[in-house]
This record gives sequence, structure tokens and C-alpha cells, in this order.
Amino acid sequence: MGRRIVLLGPPGAGKGTQAHRLAERLGLPLIITGDLLRSEVQDGSELGREAKAYLDEGKLVPDRLVVAMIRDQLDRVNGHHGFILDGFPRNDVQAQALDEITEVDQAILIDIPREDVIDRLSSRRVCANCGAVYNLSSDQPEQKGVCDECGGELTQRSDDTPEVVARRYDVQYNESVKPLIDVYRERDVLVTVDGRGPIDAVTERLLEAAG
Ligand code: AP5
Repeated sequence: MGRRIVLLGPPGAGKGTQAHRLAERLGLPLIITGDLLRSEVQDGSELGREAKAYLDEGKLVPDRLVVAMIRDQLDRVNGHHGFILDGFPRNDVQAQALDEITEVDQAILIDIPREDVIDRLSSRRVCANCGAVYNLSSDQPEQKGVCDECGGELTQRSDDTPEVVARRYDVQYNESVKPLIDVYRERDVLVTVDGRGPIDAVTERLLEAAG
């Protein structure tokens, strides 16, 4: 089995959390679309300035921007030999663009129900300095409000408000990502993993699914 893996799933499914663990365990380069976009926004780059309003409103950033960014990243990591891609593709145009760049060996869907999404994202905290992700209920830092990794301040993502989370789930995920799940299922490269339960247990399920 090749190692060109895309991670799919609703917001808050644990894609970012698990992507880091999988990349480390499997020794693969990792590309996290949302993190790349947020870092462009933080840097105030041209791409970041254009993307900001979409991120804040929970809407998809225009395909031309995201496809160009991913193409560059795959080149940078020499991704034709293997990668973990979190957050791309997110619609059929992006999936076609990816097919033109490289093949996908495995699409792994991390699935959780909608009610869990709202709970998880309202208690997510992210380090303003290094981006490490925590959760006030399931994955707390050792010291309240402080990142274990770098001592940075823990903050809430601006798109983790209840209204924006609802739009990310109901519009982005239901209307754009779900049809892709069927595309990868028909190609016989889709595996679904239950994203509920302890984070370590989900990692083990994913490693088993990734073979
Ligand atoms: P993005 O950052 O990709 O957001 P998302 O898909 O909505 O996913 P999240 O990052 O919210 O969740 P996650 O699944 O990574 O969960 P996490 O591991 O953090 O995208 C943001 C925006 O960027 C989009 O809205 C869009 O505007 C733009 N964008 C991105 N990609 C794009 C694209 N391809 N095209 C166009 N626009 C694009 O976990 C969530 C929380 O749960 C954490 O607190 C974590 O600690 C906790 N947790 C994790 N696992 C568990 C567990 N097993 N049990 C309990 N808690 C858990």
C-alpha cells in the first residue's frame, strides 16, 4: 500500500491532532491546510489577507488560492513518495486538482457525530505561539492557559464560535466534503475510523487502518 494519505472528517473530528501523531509514527511529511492558511493570516501575507474573511466566516477559501498553496507544499516535501494531507481536498474541484498533481492511495475518514463537534470545538484551545492544540475537557495542558510545548498563551480560534462551527459543519462539511467521501469510496481507497473515545485509542485505530 502506498503512503499518499488524505484525512477527511468534520470539523473537530481530531484530524489535526491525529495527523501529527500519524506523520510521526509513519515517518511521512505532513501538510495541514488550515494551519498553513492561519499562518499566512498571522504573517499578513497577500494570501493571508485574501483568505482571512473566509476563515473567519467558516467558508471555503477560493480554490485557486488553496490549490496553488498545496501544489507548492507537495513540491517542497517531494510528496510524490508519500504524505499526509489534512484539510485538502475539500470539494470536487480540489480533488480533481490533486488527481492532476499526484495519486491518492488512501482516504481516511475520521468520523464523529455533529453533537460531539460542537462540544469539542467550544473547549478547544490553541497555542498562540506554536499552534499546539489542547482541549479543556479531554486534553488539558499541565498549567491552565499555558502551552506545555513552548510556554505560549492558549487562545480560542476565531472560527470556533457556535455560529461559525455550525456553518463549517452544515455547509462546508455536508455540502462540499461529504460528496468527496463517496468519490473515494467508489475508488475503493476509503477507510472510515471512529473518531470517538480517547485520543490514543483513535490513533491506534488509524494506524491499523493505514496498514
Ligand atoms: P481547518 O483548520 O482544517 O478546520 P476544520 O476542518 O474545521 O477542522 P478543525 O481544525 O476544526 O478540526 P480537527 O479535525 O483538526 O480537530 P482537532 O484535532 O483540532 O480549516 C479552517 C478553515 O480554513 C476552513 O473553515 C476554511 O475557511 C479554510 N480551509 C482549510 N482547508 C481548506 C481547503 N482545502 N479549501 C478551502 N478552504 C480551506 O481537534 C478538535 C478538538 O477536539 C481539540 O480541542 C482536540 O484536543 C479535541 N480532540 C481531538 N481528538 C479527541 C478525542 N478523541 N476525544 C476528545 N477530544 C478530542
